[in-house]
Amino acid sequence: MMLWVTLLSTIALGWTTPIPLLEDSEEIDEPCFEPCYCEVKEGIFHIHCDSKGFTNVSQIAQIWNRPFKLNLQRNSMRKLYFNSFLHLNNAISINLGNNALQDIHAGAFNGLGILKRLFLHENKLEVFRNDTFLGLESLEYLQADYNVIKRIESGAFRHLHKLRVLILNDNLIPVLPNYLFRSVSLTHLDLRGNRLKTLPYKGTLEYVGRSLMEIQLEENPWNCVCEIVQLKTWLERIPYTALVGEITCEYPFHLHGKDLREIKRGELCPLKNPSSLRRDLGPQESPQPRVASIQVLTSHPLLVIQTRPPIPIICPARCICNLHINDLGLTVNCKEKSFHNISELLPRPLNAKKLYLSGNLIQKIYRSDFWNFSSLDLLHLGNNRISYVQEGAFINLPNLKSLYLNGNDIERLTPGMFRGLQMLSYLYFEYNVIREIQPNSFALMPNLQLVFLNDNLLRFLPNDAFAGTNLARLNLRNNYFLSLPVRGVLEHLSSIVQIDLHQNPWNCTCDIVPLKQWLEKLSSVIVVGDVICKTPEFAFGKDLRSLEPEVICPELKSSSGSNPVLPGREDLNTEGSKLSEAGGRGAVPLSVLILSLLILFISAVFLAAGFFAFVLRRRKNLPFRKRSEVDLTGIQMQCRIFEDPRELDVSLTFFFLL
Ligand SMILES: *[C@@H]1O[C@H](CO)[C@@H](O)[C@H](O)[C@H]1NC(C)=O
Ligand SMILES: *[C@@H]1O[C@H](CO)[C@@H](O)[C@H](O)[C@H]1NC(C)=O
Ligand SMILES: *[C@@H]1O[C@H](CO)[C@@H](O)[C@H](O)[C@H]1NC(C)=O
Ligand SMILES: *[C@@H]1O[C@H](CO)[C@@H](O)[C@H](O)[C@H]1NC(C)=O
Ligand SMILES: *[C@@H]1O[C@H](CO)[C@@H](O)[C@H](O)[C@H]1NC(C)=O
Repeated sequence: MMLWVTLLSTIALGWTTPIPLLEDSEEIDEPCFEPCYCEVKEGIFHIHCDSKGFTNVSQIAQIWNRPFKLNLQRNSMRKLYFNSFLHLNNAISINLGNNALQDIHAGAFNGLGILKRLFLHENKLEVFRNDTFLGLESLEYLQADYNVIKRIESGAFRHLHKLRVLILNDNLIPVLPNYLFRSVSLTHLDLRGNRLKTLPYKGTLEYVGRSLMEIQLEENPWNCVCEIVQLKTWLERIPYTALVGEITCEYPFHLHGKDLREIKRGELCPLKNPSSLRRDLGPQESPQPRVASIQVLTSHPLLVIQTRPPIPIICPARCICNLHINDLGLTVNCKEKSFHNISELLPRPLNAKKLYLSGNLIQKIYRSDFWNFSSLDLLHLGNNRISYVQEGAFINLPNLKSLYLNGNDIERLTPGMFRGLQMLSYLYFEYNVIREIQPNSFALMPNLQLVFLNDNLLRFLPNDAFAGTNLARLNLRNNYFLSLPVRGVLEHLSSIVQIDLHQNPWNCTCDIVPLKQWLEKLSSVIVVGDVICKTPEFAFGKDLRSLEPEVICPELKSSSGSNPVLPGREDLNTEGSKLSEAGGRGAVPLSVLILSLLILFISAVFLAAGFFAFVLRRRKNLPFRKRSEVDLTGIQMQCRIFEDPRELDVSLTFFFLL
């Protein structure tokens, strides 16, 4: 099936009010302006001043009497001053993209009363103030993606009554102020790639949706806790096609990578009862009529307000495809359509960036499946029946960043499965039946940041399981781990920011001491949840970190003199010395410490005493404080073995105890 879907941006290109048009052949009675270039295109006078090195709008010293579009892209403007555009009052479109704009002074746009489109993308704007857009009463389209906007004041758009399209993706917006959208009726809103954690109904969402056709919220660090239920509920009430892409949770850790719409309400908000949720959403009756009006609008023939021919989108049969307004990447949604085989996806879409195949009946993944999907950055194969992944299955996906294989029947991970995924950052394998991970499975993915292996059947991780990666997040919850070695496994997690070890039957015996020490090096924020011992009996139900090493492993205490056969002893020693370098707490078992210090000290004391006497004889007249410093140096010289002054402190304490 070939779908001729309207390119959404063309809607925005269409004028809703008529502009006097020129014939392309018509003589232009307007002058141009050196060094710019002018033309009549689609009946409108265009002035092209891109890449001319302008630093100030006042340099465009020309007046045009008919409506025109002015292109000032790729110049070097840093500021827009008060009344900058007064003489350009017939502009209907101004493109200031790719400049160096940092600041827009109040009243900069005064006089631009018929301006419909304003492009401010790829600048360095940080803030939209209440007075930033004064004078733009006719503005319909505002594009300010790829800036560094951190703050928007609540009245910034209050005079933009005609604003329909607002593009703010790839900024740093942490929160939208209340009532920002009270005076506008947006049809398109792009907030991708910001820092939003939630969107409340009251004050924000209640003003979006009356006329909404498209909203994009991807790539924000959504915090999927109770508060976000308001957003989830709102999303359920807008038409399915209005939300382009996923709302992927960033927090809490166990919901990382999940689509908000697929998480059950109870999981987001375990404590609250449903009636209080409904209260959060505001009056029950208010969103209801809006849904109806949205649906009317989306079924509205789009061609009416469109000037360009529609761009063809090739979409596989049974799927829904959405084109992103900016990068022209396609999101292909083939969820829950009973596909058995990826080869059934025909015709193959062009420039597909995201492919959602979750909830189908796929059992096997072949190398040939993704031949025509090389632009994919996200592939969702969650909740299928996949038990077989051919070697090199993903080799044709060099741009893939997120791979979801959760909820399948995969038993084994091998290095060959992941060949070619050099950009992969996020890998989701939870809820499979993985028993085995072969060595170096992840080693060919240098950009890997997150691996979810929770809810599998793992008992062991191989040596070098994470070698070659720089993992920040790892979820091992709910497997069958009794212990995990530091050497060869955990030691490669030097960049870890979150690790979940909850719900494993930890066997708190000698073997686990290195793991305990490793955990103690990490802050409690990094270790998500508890690490509860299951065996032996005395440790049952206790957190590994709360137990003394000598309790876990009595051999540590009793065996200090002889040379005991101590499991994982090598781990222990190397880890111990590393830890004391790092100033770790309780790093070396006390018995070992005392013994070695004693031996060293007895010799040190003898050597030092000799030196001491020598120094004292030479510097008899020094005041006491000064002398003690000298003494210290003397001891330090003798005890070169203690490279770290911290250890010297310890040893001095021992010295005095003696
Ligand atoms: C830019 O033009 C404004 C007038 O619009 C003027 O006040 C300002 O000084 C100019 N700035 C520079 C750097 O030329
Ligand atoms: C911006 O305008 C809104 C209402 O229009 C007002 O509540 C707010 O205080 C103003 N903010 C600033 C910083 O002036
Ligand atoms: C799926 O595709 C593979 C290879 O393209 C083919 O061998 C297999 O028969 C197909 N299975 C189904 C159920 O269509
Ligand atoms: C994939 O692309 C190749 C050309 O690169 C083409 O020959 C082939 O027919 C395409 N396959 C599908 C299933 O569209
Ligand atoms: C725990 O470790 C000890 C010592 O290595 C071993 O004897 C015991 O069988 C282990 N317990 C379980 C449940 O495997």
